[in-house]
Amino acid sequence: MKFSFASLSLPKSGAIVAGVKEGKAMTPAAKDIDKRTGGAVKRALASGRFTGAKGQTLEILAPAGMGNSRILLVGLGSGLDMLAQQALGGRILAHMNSVGETAATFLVDDGADDLAEAAAQIAYGARLKSYRFDKYRTKEKANKKPSLRALALRVDGFATARRAFAVLDKVADGVFFTRDLVSAPPNDLYPETFAAEVKKLTELGVKVEVLGEKQMQRLGMGALLGVGQGSIRESRLVVMRWNGAARNKQPLAFVGKGVTFDTGGISLKPAGGMEDMKWDMGGAGTVAGVMKAVAGRKAKANVIGVIGLVENMPDGNAQRPGDIVTSMSGQTIEIINTDAEGRLVLADALWYTQDRFKPQFIVDLATLTGAIIISLGHEHAGVFANDDTLSENLIAAGKATGEKLWRFPLNKDYDKQIDSPAADMKNVGGRPAGSITAAQFLQRFVNNTPWAHLDIAGMAWSGKDKDTVPKGGTGYGVRLLDTMVKEFYED
Ligand code: BES
Ligand code: MN
Ligand code: ZN
Repeated sequence: MKFSFASLSLPKSGAIVAGVKEGKAMTPAAKDIDKRTGGAVKRALASGRFTGAKGQTLEILAPAGMGNSRILLVGLGSGLDMLAQQALGGRILAHMNSVGETAATFLVDDGADDLAEAAAQIAYGARLKSYRFDKYRTKEKANKKPSLRALALRVDGFATARRAFAVLDKVADGVFFTRDLVSAPPNDLYPETFAAEVKKLTELGVKVEVLGEKQMQRLGMGALLGVGQGSIRESRLVVMRWNGAARNKQPLAFVGKGVTFDTGGISLKPAGGMEDMKWDMGGAGTVAGVMKAVAGRKAKANVIGVIGLVENMPDGNAQRPGDIVTSMSGQTIEIINTDAEGRLVLADALWYTQDRFKPQFIVDLATLTGAIIISLGHEHAGVFANDDTLSENLIAAGKATGEKLWRFPLNKDYDKQIDSPAADMKNVGGRPAGSITAAQFLQRFVNNTPWAHLDIAGMAWSGKDKDTVPKGGTGYGVRLLDTMVKEFYED
Protein backbone atom coordinates (compact mmCIF):
# COMPACT_ATOMS: atom_id res chain seq x y z
CA MET A 1 0.00 0.00 0.00
CA LYS A 2 1.14 3.46 -0.87
CA PHE A 3 0.51 6.51 1.31
CA SER A 4 0.97 9.98 -0.13
CA PHE A 5 0.51 13.58 0.95
CA ALA A 6 -0.38 16.59 -1.20
CA SER A 7 -2.11 19.95 -1.03
CA LEU A 8 -5.89 20.32 -0.87
CA SER A 9 -7.87 19.82 -4.09
CA LEU A 10 -10.45 17.33 -5.32
CA PRO A 11 -8.99 14.26 -7.10
CA LYS A 12 -10.38 13.43 -10.55
CA SER A 13 -10.78 9.70 -9.95
CA GLY A 14 -11.07 7.06 -7.25
CA ALA A 15 -12.87 7.47 -3.95
CA ILE A 16 -13.02 10.73 -2.03
CA VAL A 17 -13.32 10.84 1.74
CA ALA A 18 -14.66 14.06 3.24
CA GLY A 19 -15.66 14.96 6.75
CA VAL A 20 -18.96 16.14 8.18
CA LYS A 21 -19.11 17.50 11.70
CA GLU A 22 -21.78 16.99 14.33
CA GLY A 23 -25.15 18.46 13.30
CA LYS A 24 -24.53 17.72 9.60
CA ALA A 25 -22.02 20.58 9.42
CA MET A 26 -20.20 20.13 6.11
CA THR A 27 -16.45 20.64 5.90
CA PRO A 28 -15.15 22.80 3.01
CA ALA A 29 -14.48 19.64 0.98
CA ALA A 30 -18.00 18.32 1.54
CA LYS A 31 -19.41 21.69 0.45
CA ASP A 32 -17.24 21.67 -2.66
CA ILE A 33 -18.45 18.19 -3.60
CA ASP A 34 -22.03 19.24 -2.90
CA LYS A 35 -21.67 22.13 -5.33
CA ARG A 36 -20.16 19.97 -8.10
CA THR A 37 -22.80 17.29 -7.77
CA GLY A 38 -25.74 19.66 -7.79
CA GLY A 39 -26.53 19.11 -4.13
CA ALA A 40 -25.96 15.34 -3.78
CA VAL A 41 -24.30 15.73 -0.38
CA LYS A 42 -27.16 17.79 1.06
CA ARG A 43 -29.72 15.34 -0.28
CA ALA A 44 -27.78 12.39 1.16
CA LEU A 45 -27.53 14.14 4.53
CA ALA A 46 -31.27 14.70 4.53
CA SER A 47 -32.16 11.10 3.85
CA GLY A 48 -30.96 9.03 6.81
CA ARG A 49 -29.64 8.83 10.34
CA PHE A 50 -26.20 10.23 9.60
CA THR A 51 -25.62 13.33 11.74
CA GLY A 52 -21.83 13.67 11.52
CA ALA A 53 -21.29 11.97 14.88
CA LYS A 54 -17.89 10.37 15.42
CA GLY A 55 -17.73 6.93 13.81
CA GLN A 56 -20.65 7.36 11.39
CA THR A 57 -20.25 7.00 7.62
CA LEU A 58 -22.46 7.75 4.62
CA GLU A 59 -21.59 6.79 1.08
CA ILE A 60 -22.62 8.33 -2.23
CA LEU A 61 -21.86 6.09 -5.21
CA ALA A 62 -20.91 7.22 -8.72
CA PRO A 63 -21.66 10.89 -8.07
CA ALA A 64 -23.10 12.70 -11.09
CA GLY A 65 -20.92 15.52 -12.41
CA MET A 66 -17.70 13.99 -11.09
CA GLY A 67 -15.40 11.26 -12.37
CA ASN A 68 -15.02 9.65 -8.95
CA SER A 69 -16.17 6.18 -7.98
CA ARG A 70 -17.61 7.15 -4.62
CA ILE A 71 -17.80 9.80 -1.93
CA LEU A 72 -17.41 8.55 1.63
CA LEU A 73 -18.65 11.06 4.18
CA VAL A 74 -17.20 10.43 7.62
CA GLY A 75 -18.46 11.82 10.92
CA LEU A 76 -15.97 14.01 12.74
CA GLY A 77 -18.21 14.73 15.72
CA SER A 78 -17.02 17.86 17.46
CA GLY A 79 -13.42 17.13 16.43
CA LEU A 80 -11.20 14.07 16.70
CA ASP A 81 -8.34 13.41 19.10
CA MET A 82 -5.27 11.43 18.07
CA LEU A 83 -6.64 7.97 18.81
CA ALA A 84 -9.91 8.80 17.04
CA GLN A 85 -7.94 9.97 14.01
CA GLN A 86 -6.05 6.67 13.91
CA ALA A 87 -9.30 4.74 14.33
CA LEU A 88 -10.84 6.68 11.46
CA GLY A 89 -7.90 5.83 9.22
CA GLY A 90 -8.29 2.17 10.11
CA ARG A 91 -12.02 2.17 9.42
CA ILE A 92 -11.59 3.93 6.07
CA LEU A 93 -9.04 1.33 5.00
CA ALA A 94 -11.33 -1.54 6.04
CA HIS A 95 -14.27 0.03 4.23
CA MET A 96 -12.37 0.63 0.99
CA ASN A 97 -11.15 -2.96 1.01
CA SER A 98 -14.62 -4.31 1.68
CA VAL A 99 -16.14 -2.48 -1.30
CA GLY A 100 -13.23 -3.23 -3.65
CA GLU A 101 -11.96 0.34 -4.04
CA THR A 102 -8.39 0.69 -5.31
CA ALA A 103 -7.58 4.36 -4.65
CA ALA A 104 -8.89 6.80 -2.08
CA THR A 105 -8.17 10.44 -1.27
CA PHE A 106 -9.02 11.99 2.09
CA LEU A 107 -9.44 15.76 2.15
CA VAL A 108 -8.39 16.78 5.65
CA ASP A 109 -9.61 20.35 6.04
CA ASP A 110 -11.50 20.46 9.33
CA GLY A 111 -12.24 18.57 12.53
CA ALA A 112 -8.89 18.76 14.35
CA ASP A 113 -6.66 21.39 15.94
CA ASP A 114 -3.62 20.42 13.89
CA LEU A 115 -4.74 19.22 10.47
CA ALA A 116 -1.29 18.20 9.19
CA GLU A 117 -0.77 16.05 12.29
CA ALA A 118 -4.30 14.66 11.89
CA ALA A 119 -3.56 13.62 8.29
CA ALA A 120 -0.43 11.79 9.48
CA GLN A 121 -2.39 10.03 12.25
CA ILE A 122 -5.15 9.00 9.84
CA ALA A 123 -2.55 7.49 7.51
CA TYR A 124 -0.86 5.79 10.49
CA GLY A 125 -4.16 4.23 11.56
CA ALA A 126 -4.76 2.95 8.04
CA ARG A 127 -1.24 1.55 7.85
CA LEU A 128 -1.66 -0.25 11.20
CA LYS A 129 -4.95 -1.73 10.03
CA SER A 130 -3.49 -2.85 6.69
CA TYR A 131 -1.47 -5.65 8.32
CA ARG A 132 -2.12 -9.16 7.01
CA PHE A 133 -0.55 -12.48 7.84
CA ASP A 134 -1.07 -14.29 4.55
CA LYS A 135 2.30 -15.95 4.03
CA TYR A 136 0.80 -19.42 4.43
CA ARG A 137 -2.30 -18.96 2.25
CA THR A 138 -2.04 -20.35 -1.26
CA LYS A 139 -5.69 -20.41 -2.28
CA GLU A 140 -7.15 -17.09 -1.23
CA LYS A 141 -9.59 -15.78 -3.86
CA ALA A 142 -8.76 -12.46 -5.48
CA ASN A 143 -11.99 -10.89 -4.21
CA LYS A 144 -10.99 -11.68 -0.62
CA LYS A 145 -7.67 -9.92 -0.92
CA PRO A 146 -7.33 -6.23 -0.03
CA SER A 147 -8.12 -3.99 -3.01
CA LEU A 148 -6.86 -0.60 -1.83
CA ARG A 149 -3.50 0.25 -3.38
CA ALA A 150 -3.18 3.91 -2.54
CA LEU A 151 -4.40 6.24 0.18
CA ALA A 152 -3.73 9.93 -0.44
CA LEU A 153 -4.06 12.56 2.24
CA ARG A 154 -4.63 16.11 1.03
CA VAL A 155 -4.08 18.81 3.61
CA ASP A 156 -2.64 22.28 4.11
CA GLY A 157 0.93 21.79 5.33
CA PHE A 158 1.24 18.43 3.60
CA ALA A 159 5.04 18.46 3.86
CA THR A 160 4.73 18.56 7.66
CA ALA A 161 2.20 15.72 7.52
CA ARG A 162 4.53 13.67 5.33
CA ARG A 163 7.42 14.13 7.77
CA ALA A 164 5.25 13.17 10.76
CA PHE A 165 4.02 10.08 8.95
CA ALA A 166 7.55 9.00 8.04
CA VAL A 167 8.31 8.61 11.76
CA LEU A 168 5.01 6.86 12.55
CA ASP A 169 5.61 4.54 9.62
CA LYS A 170 8.79 3.28 11.33
CA VAL A 171 6.82 2.52 14.47
CA ALA A 172 4.30 0.63 12.34
CA ASP A 173 7.22 -1.37 10.89
CA GLY A 174 8.04 -2.38 14.47
CA VAL A 175 4.41 -3.33 15.16
CA PHE A 176 4.31 -5.42 11.96
CA PHE A 177 7.54 -7.20 12.91
CA THR A 178 5.98 -8.19 16.24
CA ARG A 179 2.75 -9.31 14.57
CA ASP A 180 4.71 -11.45 12.09
CA LEU A 181 6.64 -13.12 14.91
CA VAL A 182 3.55 -13.68 17.08
CA SER A 183 1.50 -15.08 14.19
CA ALA A 184 4.20 -17.42 12.90
CA PRO A 185 3.52 -21.15 13.40
CA PRO A 186 5.70 -22.85 16.02
CA ASN A 187 7.10 -25.42 13.61
CA ASP A 188 8.73 -22.56 11.72
CA LEU A 189 9.39 -20.13 14.57
CA TYR A 190 11.51 -21.67 17.31
CA PRO A 191 14.44 -20.22 19.26
CA GLU A 192 17.01 -20.52 16.49
CA THR A 193 14.79 -19.12 13.72
CA PHE A 194 13.45 -16.37 16.01
CA ALA A 195 17.06 -15.34 16.69
CA ALA A 196 17.75 -15.37 12.94
CA GLU A 197 14.80 -13.00 12.35
CA VAL A 198 16.10 -10.66 15.04
CA LYS A 199 19.58 -10.72 13.45
CA LYS A 200 18.04 -8.88 10.49
CA LEU A 201 17.72 -5.79 12.72
CA THR A 202 21.47 -5.28 12.21
CA GLU A 203 20.47 -3.63 8.90
CA LEU A 204 18.97 -0.81 10.98
CA GLY A 205 22.08 -0.42 13.10
CA VAL A 206 21.00 -2.66 15.99
CA LYS A 207 23.81 -4.79 17.42
CA VAL A 208 22.56 -8.33 17.89
CA GLU A 209 24.29 -11.04 19.93
CA VAL A 210 22.94 -14.58 20.13
CA LEU A 211 23.92 -16.75 23.10
CA GLY A 212 23.64 -20.51 22.69
CA GLU A 213 23.15 -23.19 25.34
CA LYS A 214 26.88 -23.61 26.03
CA GLN A 215 27.30 -19.91 26.77
CA MET A 216 24.20 -19.87 28.95
CA GLN A 217 25.49 -22.91 30.85
CA ARG A 218 28.74 -21.06 31.52
CA LEU A 219 26.73 -18.12 32.85
CA GLY A 220 24.80 -20.47 35.12
CA MET A 221 21.37 -19.94 33.60
CA GLY A 222 19.89 -23.10 35.07
CA ALA A 223 16.37 -21.70 35.28
CA LEU A 224 16.04 -20.81 31.60
CA LEU A 225 17.88 -23.91 30.40
CA GLY A 226 15.69 -26.21 32.52
CA VAL A 227 12.61 -25.07 30.61
CA GLY A 228 14.16 -25.80 27.22
CA GLN A 229 15.75 -29.13 28.08
CA GLY A 230 12.81 -31.23 26.90
CA SER A 231 12.86 -29.72 23.43
CA ILE A 232 14.93 -30.82 20.45
CA ARG A 233 15.16 -27.11 19.64
CA GLU A 234 18.08 -25.43 21.39
CA SER A 235 17.37 -22.45 23.61
CA ARG A 236 18.74 -19.00 22.83
CA LEU A 237 19.23 -15.69 24.60
CA VAL A 238 19.28 -12.75 22.21
CA VAL A 239 20.70 -9.37 23.15
CA MET A 240 19.83 -6.34 20.99
CA ARG A 241 21.48 -2.95 21.42
CA TRP A 242 20.47 0.37 19.92
CA ASN A 243 22.91 3.17 20.71
CA GLY A 244 21.17 6.40 19.81
CA ALA A 245 22.56 8.55 22.64
CA ALA A 246 25.98 9.34 24.09
CA ARG A 247 28.05 6.27 24.99
CA ASN A 248 28.06 7.04 28.70
CA LYS A 249 24.28 7.43 28.88
CA GLN A 250 22.76 4.62 30.98
CA PRO A 251 20.60 2.38 28.77
CA LEU A 252 16.92 1.54 29.04
CA ALA A 253 16.24 -2.19 29.04
CA PHE A 254 13.36 -4.28 27.77
CA VAL A 255 13.22 -8.00 28.53
CA GLY A 256 10.81 -10.47 26.94
CA LYS A 257 9.49 -13.96 27.58
CA GLY A 258 9.96 -15.93 24.39
CA VAL A 259 8.42 -19.36 24.84
CA THR A 260 8.01 -20.28 21.17
CA PHE A 261 5.59 -23.01 22.16
CA ASP A 262 4.25 -23.79 25.62
CA THR A 263 2.84 -27.30 25.95
CA GLY A 264 3.11 -26.98 29.71
CA GLY A 265 5.88 -29.58 29.67
CA ILE A 266 5.39 -32.60 31.95
CA SER A 267 2.57 -30.61 33.63
CA LEU A 268 0.92 -30.88 30.22
CA LYS A 269 -1.81 -28.44 29.23
CA PRO A 270 -5.20 -29.73 28.06
CA ALA A 271 -5.58 -30.11 24.26
CA GLY A 272 -8.34 -27.53 23.76
CA GLY A 273 -6.88 -24.24 22.58
CA MET A 274 -3.29 -25.37 23.00
CA GLU A 275 -2.48 -23.94 19.56
CA ASP A 276 -2.74 -20.51 21.20
CA MET A 277 0.51 -21.25 22.96
CA LYS A 278 2.37 -20.46 19.74
CA TRP A 279 2.04 -16.84 20.87
CA ASP A 280 3.62 -17.48 24.25
CA MET A 281 6.62 -15.65 22.80
CA GLY A 282 4.57 -12.44 22.63
CA GLY A 283 6.69 -10.59 25.19
CA ALA A 284 9.86 -11.33 23.23
CA GLY A 285 8.05 -10.42 20.02
CA THR A 286 7.16 -7.03 21.45
CA VAL A 287 10.71 -6.38 22.62
CA ALA A 288 11.99 -7.18 19.11
CA GLY A 289 9.35 -4.86 17.62
CA VAL A 290 10.25 -2.03 19.99
CA MET A 291 13.90 -2.37 18.97
CA LYS A 292 12.89 -2.17 15.32
CA ALA A 293 10.77 0.94 16.03
CA VAL A 294 13.40 2.86 18.02
CA ALA A 295 16.15 1.98 15.55
CA GLY A 296 13.92 2.74 12.57
CA ARG A 297 13.12 6.22 13.80
CA LYS A 298 16.65 6.69 15.16
CA ALA A 299 15.59 7.38 18.75
CA LYS A 300 18.05 9.44 20.77
CA ALA A 301 18.33 6.88 23.54
CA ASN A 302 20.42 3.83 24.35
CA VAL A 303 18.07 0.87 24.40
CA ILE A 304 18.76 -2.77 25.24
CA GLY A 305 16.46 -5.64 24.34
CA VAL A 306 17.00 -9.07 25.89
CA ILE A 307 14.81 -12.04 25.00
CA GLY A 308 14.88 -15.55 26.42
CA LEU A 309 13.86 -18.05 23.74
CA VAL A 310 12.86 -21.60 24.66
CA GLU A 311 10.36 -24.27 23.69
CA ASN A 312 8.55 -25.97 26.61
CA MET A 313 8.01 -29.62 25.66
CA PRO A 314 7.29 -32.90 27.48
CA ASP A 315 10.02 -35.44 26.77
CA GLY A 316 12.26 -38.08 28.30
CA ASN A 317 14.73 -35.32 29.04
CA ALA A 318 12.15 -32.74 30.15
CA GLN A 319 12.33 -31.13 33.55
CA ARG A 320 10.17 -32.73 36.25
CA PRO A 321 7.98 -31.36 39.02
CA GLY A 322 10.25 -31.73 42.05
CA ASP A 323 13.43 -30.73 40.22
CA ILE A 324 15.47 -27.97 41.83
CA VAL A 325 17.33 -25.63 39.47
CA THR A 326 19.95 -23.00 40.22
CA SER A 327 19.44 -19.66 38.49
CA MET A 328 22.21 -17.33 37.31
CA SER A 329 21.58 -15.23 40.44
CA GLY A 330 22.55 -18.23 42.58
CA GLN A 331 19.03 -18.53 43.98
CA THR A 332 17.55 -22.03 43.78
CA ILE A 333 14.03 -22.79 42.56
CA GLU A 334 11.93 -25.86 43.20
CA ILE A 335 9.85 -26.70 40.15
CA ILE A 336 6.32 -27.56 41.27
CA ASN A 337 4.58 -27.09 37.94
CA THR A 338 6.53 -27.17 34.67
CA ASP A 339 3.80 -25.01 33.10
CA ALA A 340 4.89 -22.01 35.20
CA GLU A 341 7.88 -21.72 32.87
CA GLY A 342 7.80 -18.07 31.83
CA ARG A 343 9.03 -16.81 35.20
CA LEU A 344 11.94 -19.28 35.00
CA VAL A 345 13.01 -17.91 31.63
CA LEU A 346 12.66 -14.34 32.85
CA ALA A 347 14.53 -15.05 36.09
CA ASP A 348 17.76 -15.56 34.18
CA ALA A 349 17.06 -12.97 31.46
CA LEU A 350 16.33 -10.30 34.10
CA TRP A 351 19.36 -11.14 36.23
CA TYR A 352 21.64 -11.13 33.19
CA THR A 353 20.26 -7.76 32.03
CA GLN A 354 20.72 -5.89 35.31
CA ASP A 355 24.09 -7.51 35.95
CA ARG A 356 25.61 -6.80 32.54
CA PHE A 357 24.04 -3.47 31.58
CA LYS A 358 23.20 -1.66 34.85
CA PRO A 359 20.25 -0.02 33.07
CA GLN A 360 18.21 3.03 34.18
CA PHE A 361 15.27 0.66 34.37
CA ILE A 362 14.06 -2.71 33.16
CA VAL A 363 10.60 -3.29 31.74
CA ASP A 364 9.79 -6.93 31.12
CA LEU A 365 6.90 -8.20 29.02
CA ALA A 366 5.41 -11.66 29.23
CA THR A 367 2.33 -13.68 28.42
CA LEU A 368 2.83 -14.87 31.96
CA THR A 369 -0.44 -15.89 33.60
CA GLY A 370 -3.94 -16.98 32.69
CA ALA A 371 -4.97 -15.23 35.90
CA ILE A 372 -4.34 -11.78 34.39
CA ILE A 373 -6.97 -12.56 31.74
CA ILE A 374 -9.43 -13.39 34.51
CA SER A 375 -8.63 -10.05 36.18
CA LEU A 376 -8.46 -7.66 33.23
CA GLY A 377 -9.79 -9.47 30.18
CA HIS A 378 -8.54 -8.08 26.89
CA GLU A 379 -8.68 -4.34 27.63
CA HIS A 380 -5.68 -3.73 29.90
CA ALA A 381 -2.36 -5.42 30.49
CA GLY A 382 -1.31 -5.68 34.13
CA VAL A 383 1.63 -3.61 35.32
CA PHE A 384 3.63 -4.44 38.45
CA ALA A 385 6.44 -2.13 39.48
CA ASN A 386 8.94 -1.43 42.26
CA ASP A 387 9.16 2.20 41.09
CA ASP A 388 6.28 4.71 40.95
CA THR A 389 7.76 7.03 38.32
CA LEU A 390 8.38 4.16 35.93
CA SER A 391 4.87 2.85 36.49
CA GLU A 392 3.33 6.30 35.96
CA ASN A 393 5.31 6.84 32.75
CA LEU A 394 4.16 3.50 31.42
CA ILE A 395 0.54 4.17 32.30
CA ALA A 396 0.69 7.62 30.65
CA ALA A 397 2.17 6.15 27.46
CA GLY A 398 -0.54 3.49 27.57
CA LYS A 399 -3.26 6.13 27.64
CA ALA A 400 -1.63 8.08 24.80
CA THR A 401 -1.43 5.02 22.54
CA GLY A 402 -4.61 3.23 23.59
CA GLU A 403 -2.49 0.30 24.80
CA LYS A 404 -3.88 0.47 28.29
CA LEU A 405 -2.29 -0.66 31.55
CA TRP A 406 -3.67 -1.25 35.00
CA ARG A 407 -1.40 -1.34 38.05
CA PHE A 408 -1.42 -4.25 40.47
CA PRO A 409 0.21 -4.37 43.89
CA LEU A 410 3.51 -5.94 44.83
CA ASN A 411 3.85 -6.78 48.51
CA LYS A 412 6.14 -9.02 50.53
CA ASP A 413 3.13 -10.55 52.27
CA TYR A 414 2.54 -12.58 49.10
CA ASP A 415 6.00 -14.09 49.39
CA LYS A 416 4.94 -16.85 51.73
CA GLN A 417 2.95 -18.36 48.86
CA ILE A 418 6.19 -19.08 47.00
CA ASP A 419 8.22 -20.34 49.97
CA SER A 420 9.64 -23.80 49.34
CA PRO A 421 10.63 -26.31 52.04
CA ALA A 422 13.45 -27.54 49.83
CA ALA A 423 14.84 -24.54 47.91
CA ASP A 424 14.98 -20.73 48.05
CA MET A 425 11.56 -20.55 46.40
CA LYS A 426 9.11 -22.57 44.35
CA ASN A 427 7.81 -21.63 40.94
CA VAL A 428 4.08 -21.47 41.72
CA GLY A 429 2.12 -19.80 44.48
CA GLY A 430 -1.25 -21.51 44.22
CA ARG A 431 -4.46 -20.08 42.78
CA PRO A 432 -4.97 -16.92 44.88
CA ALA A 433 -3.43 -13.82 43.27
CA GLY A 434 -1.68 -15.89 40.61
CA SER A 435 -0.48 -12.88 38.61
CA ILE A 436 0.87 -11.15 41.71
CA THR A 437 2.81 -14.14 43.05
CA ALA A 438 4.34 -14.50 39.57
CA ALA A 439 5.46 -10.85 39.74
CA GLN A 440 6.79 -11.34 43.29
CA PHE A 441 8.86 -14.19 41.91
CA LEU A 442 10.30 -12.00 39.13
CA GLN A 443 11.14 -9.21 41.57
CA ARG A 444 13.72 -11.49 43.19
CA PHE A 445 15.79 -11.33 40.01
CA VAL A 446 16.00 -7.58 39.39
CA ASN A 447 18.32 -6.75 42.29
CA ASN A 448 16.75 -3.35 43.15
CA THR A 449 16.94 -1.97 39.59
CA PRO A 450 13.87 0.21 38.88
CA TRP A 451 11.66 -2.38 37.23
CA ALA A 452 8.21 -2.95 35.85
CA HIS A 453 6.63 -6.18 34.68
CA LEU A 454 3.85 -6.15 32.08
CA ASP A 455 1.68 -9.26 32.04
CA ILE A 456 0.34 -9.20 28.48
CA ALA A 457 -1.31 -12.64 28.36
CA GLY A 458 -4.66 -11.00 27.54
CA MET A 459 -3.27 -8.58 24.98
CA ALA A 460 -0.78 -10.29 22.66
CA TRP A 461 -3.48 -11.93 20.57
CA SER A 462 -6.94 -10.72 19.56
CA GLY A 463 -9.82 -12.88 18.42
CA LYS A 464 -11.65 -9.79 17.13
CA ASP A 465 -10.96 -7.16 14.51
CA LYS A 466 -10.36 -3.74 16.08
CA ASP A 467 -10.10 -0.29 14.47
CA THR A 468 -6.33 -0.32 13.96
CA VAL A 469 -5.60 -3.94 14.90
CA PRO A 470 -6.74 -6.80 12.71
CA LYS A 471 -7.47 -10.03 14.57
CA GLY A 472 -4.44 -12.19 15.33
CA GLY A 473 -1.13 -11.04 16.77
CA THR A 474 -1.72 -7.49 17.99
CA GLY A 475 1.79 -6.10 18.43
CA TYR A 476 0.57 -4.80 21.80
CA GLY A 477 3.24 -2.86 23.64
CA VAL A 478 5.33 -1.64 20.70
CA ARG A 479 3.50 1.68 20.42
CA LEU A 480 3.28 1.95 24.21
CA LEU A 481 7.00 1.46 24.86
CA ASP A 482 8.14 3.44 21.86
CA THR A 483 6.02 6.35 23.07
CA MET A 484 7.29 6.01 26.61
CA VAL A 485 10.88 6.18 25.36
CA LYS A 486 10.06 9.19 23.20
CA GLU A 487 8.10 11.13 25.82
CA PHE A 488 10.22 10.49 28.89
CA TYR A 489 13.68 9.16 28.09
CA GLU A 490 15.06 10.79 24.95
CA ASP A 491 17.65 13.58 24.92
N1 BES B 1 1.80 -19.10 28.93
C1 BES B 1 1.02 -19.39 30.07
C2 BES B 1 0.06 -18.25 30.44
C3 BES B 1 -1.03 -17.98 29.45
C4 BES B 1 -2.26 -18.57 29.56
C5 BES B 1 -0.83 -17.07 28.43
C6 BES B 1 -3.26 -18.28 28.66
C7 BES B 1 -1.81 -16.78 27.52
C8 BES B 1 -3.04 -17.38 27.64
C9 BES B 1 1.93 -19.66 31.27
O1 BES B 1 3.15 -20.23 30.95
C10 BES B 1 1.21 -20.61 32.16
O2 BES B 1 1.01 -21.71 31.75
N2 BES B 1 0.84 -20.13 33.33
C11 BES B 1 0.13 -20.91 34.25
C12 BES B 1 0.78 -20.72 35.59
C13 BES B 1 0.32 -21.68 36.65
C14 BES B 1 0.80 -23.09 36.33
C15 BES B 1 0.85 -21.22 37.98
C16 BES B 1 -1.32 -20.43 34.29
O3 BES B 1 -1.54 -19.23 34.16
O4 BES B 1 -2.19 -21.27 34.40
MN1 MN C 1 3.05 -22.34 30.85
ZN1 ZN D 1 3.89 -19.87 29.09
